Amino acid sequence: MLSSERIMQRCDQLARHSELPGGLTRVFLSPENRAANELVLGWMREAGMQAKLDAIGNVAGRYEGERPGLPCLMLGSHLDTVRDAGKYDGMLGVVSAIECVDSLHSRNIRLPFALEVIGFGDEEGVRFGTTMLGSRAVAGAFDCNNLQARDPQGKTLETALREFGLDPQKIPQVKRNKGDVLAYAELHIEQGPVLEAEGLPVGVVTAINGFSRLRVTLSGMAGHAGTVPMRLRRDALAAAAECVLMVERVAARDAELVGTVGRIEASPGAINVIPGKVVFTVDVRAPRDELRHSCVSEVRREITALCQRRRILVEIENLQELGVAPCAGWLMAQMDRAVAAEGLRVRRLPSGAGHDGMALKEIADIAMLFVRCKGGVSHNPAESISAEDAEAGAKVLLRFISGFETRG
Ligand code: GLV
Ligand code: MN
Ligand code: MN
Repeated sequence: MLSSERIMQRCDQLARHSELPGGLTRVFLSPENRAANELVLGWMREAGMQAKLDAIGNVAGRYEGERPGLPCLMLGSHLDTVRDAGKYDGMLGVVSAIECVDSLHSRNIRLPFALEVIGFGDEEGVRFGTTMLGSRAVAGAFDCNNLQARDPQGKTLETALREFGLDPQKIPQVKRNKGDVLAYAELHIEQGPVLEAEGLPVGVVTAINGFSRLRVTLSGMAGHAGTVPMRLRRDALAAAAECVLMVERVAARDAELVGTVGRIEASPGAINVIPGKVVFTVDVRAPRDELRHSCVSEVRREITALCQRRRILVEIENLQELGVAPCAGWLMAQMDRAVAAEGLRVRRLPSGAGHDGMALKEIADIAMLFVRCKGGVSHNPAESISAEDAEAGAKVLLRFISGFETRG
């Protein structure tokens, strides 16, 4: 039996593993990440799966089909969080998938394919500034240069993996082959307001918007805040302020575009010193890759021009880029059928947020099911869902799994 109570309780349990007292922050390869992994490994084993931690730090469980070694339907989501996060983004998908396997196992049901559930170690990219390290390794798209990426304390990913007890040399072994994975399906909270506005508990995702991420470093001249006349200043933070507003203006030009400066650091960072250096990030997303590319080019041009005018040196690095990931028609049709079989209206909608399917589409067709969240709020501690919606989501996912037919 599916238990929405257990799904909600498990999300609460995972949320207790946080570096932020009274809130939720759990980054990749942290002690809190280890504790969450232990919980999930235990739940997977209770649900009849063989479960292990893979070389990139994903928790990976497998429930064999009618015979051992069959190709799998892969399910999952991520176990890391943003800073001061809600407790459902990522985690709901992992615990709901385990709940579905448990329901099959408790009824001794084996399917004509295996099921695998993965709790990806890094989707948000908070610690090392590059996202989807876990799912990219599974897709065979892990970039070894990322091993030298550093966290804010200066520790490399390679060192963090070793300290976690993992062997970075073995990351290539995490890769799955195309024929081994029949499809990837992820349940996730919507993180937007559409389902709530239409009074629907679930929705079928059509595609995941692409994103581009930049890191911009502005170098001006630090100086005395009391002595340097305004016209002689090369204030890196004032230049950055113009850049932030420019990103907002450029992205607002098209209703399909969004652009965000989510992180900014000014140094030396004293009340009486003109800021000499600023580093900030830019995140641009769109449902069409050409639109996103043209926005990024414009942002780059404008940053360069305004820094020239202000005599500021500028370096713009491409941190990461992932193109639009369409969900497969044949999987959407099966997900639609699962929704309708639960007596719910079928609503298709795109995803503005990024998800592990963007990486996994390299090895398998992907599908996603969204669950309504309160007020569309996410990446915020106020993120909330109802137990009834968690149940509706898990029931649809279980129907999808039970009725899954390979493309044929
Ligand atoms: C992940 O949550 C993202 O869309 O940034
Ligand atoms: Mn997120
Ligand atoms: Mn997420």
